[in-house]
Amino acid sequence: MASLLSPQLKRLLGYVRPYSVRLTAGVILLAFVGLAEGMTALMVKPAVDQVLTPAVYGSSVPLFKIPWTGNYVYLNKFFPPSIHNVWTIFAITIVILFTARAIAEYGGLTLIQYVGQAATRDLRNKVYERVLRQPIDFFQHNPTGRILSTVINDVEKARLALSDYLADLFQKSFTFVVLVAVMLVINWKLTLGTALLLPLVVYPVGKLGKKIRTSVEKSQTRLGDLSQILEETVSGNRVVKAFGMEEFESQKFREVARRMLRDNMRWVRAFVLTSPLMDLLGGLVIPLLLLYARNQIQHHQMTSGDFFAFLFAMLNAYMPLKRMGYVYQQFQAAQGASTQVFAYLDRVEERLDEPNGNLLAPFSREIVFDEVTFAYDGGSAQVLEKISFTANSGEVIAVVGTSGAGKTTLVNLIPRFYEVRSGVIRIDGVDIRNVTIRSLREQIAMVTQENILFHDTVWNNICYGLTNIPRERVIQAAQTALAHDFIQELPQGYDTVIGERGTRLSGGQRQRIAIARAILKDSPILILDEATSELDSESEMYVQKALSNLMVGRTTFVIAHRLGTIRKADKILVLVDGSIRESGTHAELLERGGSYARLHDLQFAEEVVLAPAAAPNQNPLNSRNKA
Ligand SMILES: Nc1ncnc2c1ncn2[C@@H]1O[C@H](COP(=O)(O)OP(=O)(O)OP(=O)(O)O)[C@@H](O)[C@H]1O
Ligand SMILES: [Mg+2]
Repeated sequence: MASLLSPQLKRLLGYVRPYSVRLTAGVILLAFVGLAEGMTALMVKPAVDQVLTPAVYGSSVPLFKIPWTGNYVYLNKFFPPSIHNVWTIFAITIVILFTARAIAEYGGLTLIQYVGQAATRDLRNKVYERVLRQPIDFFQHNPTGRILSTVINDVEKARLALSDYLADLFQKSFTFVVLVAVMLVINWKLTLGTALLLPLVVYPVGKLGKKIRTSVEKSQTRLGDLSQILEETVSGNRVVKAFGMEEFESQKFREVARRMLRDNMRWVRAFVLTSPLMDLLGGLVIPLLLLYARNQIQHHQMTSGDFFAFLFAMLNAYMPLKRMGYVYQQFQAAQGASTQVFAYLDRVEERLDEPNGNLLAPFSREIVFDEVTFAYDGGSAQVLEKISFTANSGEVIAVVGTSGAGKTTLVNLIPRFYEVRSGVIRIDGVDIRNVTIRSLREQIAMVTQENILFHDTVWNNICYGLTNIPRERVIQAAQTALAHDFIQELPQGYDTVIGERGTRLSGGQRQRIAIARAILKDSPILILDEATSELDSESEMYVQKALSNLMVGRTTFVIAHRLGTIRKADKILVLVDGSIRESGTHAELLERGGSYARLHDLQFAEEVVLAPAAAPNQNPLNSRNKA
């Protein structure tokens, strides 16, 4: 049996281990069900030979002959002598037997189902935790829909195996074993005769199992593809509508669905073939059996009761055998489906708390970038090259540069969203790779380019990651971020649920909630990546003012395209193609007349140029169109 289990299946079954007590209890109950089935088969003989044969007189009800001793087990021995009618004995036994069997079956199946369901819950929790703790680039390489599908659908398929089919497996194998024993007791020669045909069935079932495993794996991948399309088009629904891509997207969906049908049918065919294949066995056995039995009965080697009991046991042993074939195939399917689940489980987590990692002491002096070089996932293209600068505590460091210059990448290295390729980032002289990620991130608050809000209330979004915050502080943070007023105008104020990713809010509103969140976190290091880009000039001015209050005593990294917002920075780094082209204060850089000065002039000129362009007849594009 053990060799039938692949390492993967063993691993899956390993999740059942913590529940071994319940499992054992369930197995014992199901073993009883098996025994009861065997008993029922044995009762066929007295039913035919005694109860249905009026000529037989007396109260002895022989059940079966104990092998090798020649002694019979009599049913009436279990009853007080006052009950001696064959029919009464028979009837009482049947009622007790069936009642006990029903109770045991109910209890056993419930227990084993519980074990399977609980094991699946553990598995799912584990996969989710593992996925959640993956470093950022995992999420950039694994589409959301796929991950969803693995945690939901693939685990569900494994659940079927662990709960439904595990219960089935135990029940059916006990029944099978007991009934085979009954068959042996009734007539061992006949039993061995029928057993010879067994390999004819087992071999193809095994073959089919392998096919099922691989094709189920494929069809689970398709399911992942489907959820991916669904996820993207539901969350990106506005873009789909705006570009009129409904037809295109549903075409794409239909195409994957079509392929999924094809892959599904591949395993369904193998799966469904199992049962008819096993039925062929029955077709072969029964005529031979009849022929032999007729001969035996003629020679008084066997009674009709024996034959019927044997037939009853055989047909009843055959059902669980058939079912076990089915269950085996289901296990193969579960194995195929769990491939991806285990692939996720085998990934290494981002190590938030190394067991003996040092904690980063509260930030006090400076952050130093020392010849930091970085490229994304093994790619040769350097995104950052030899970045060196020092940010003293309390300073505002502005990072400017064209789109794609590497500004976001640079600040993402500070909380270790990515690890530097070479060079070192030091906080107060400590290499950030030598402290726990958690202690590092605790000291950093970020407002990012895309503000991720959760499908939850405004309140909980502002307090994200913090507990027991007094009401006044939350409101104060919201006020500072200029968010309080619009929040109060929402239908339920701070308790308004803002929709997935905050889609019920405007871009600027989302941004202000993210700012409030950062304000509330009150960390010594603040990273603002285009934090005010979605605000109108007036609000931006106010939020800037609020942020400058916030920056007091903090070390702040500001990324801004609008240079107006960073004039007062202590240091401006001009990033060109991943390296620092120049650095200094606003005044110094203007004086140098380098890239920054050019950028500045350009922006200043832009403001002048753009104003008259608003008038339609002076729009250069318009006049060109007319020409
Ligand atoms: N996850 C990623 N994997 C691979 N390459 C990336 C990834 N993120 C960014 N890049 C590349 O790294 C370079 C720098 O990107 P980055 O986001 O740092 O630019 P940026 O200066 O912040 O630009 P923007 O002003 O548009 O936000 C770009 O060429 C981009 O294509
Ligand atoms: Mg950026």
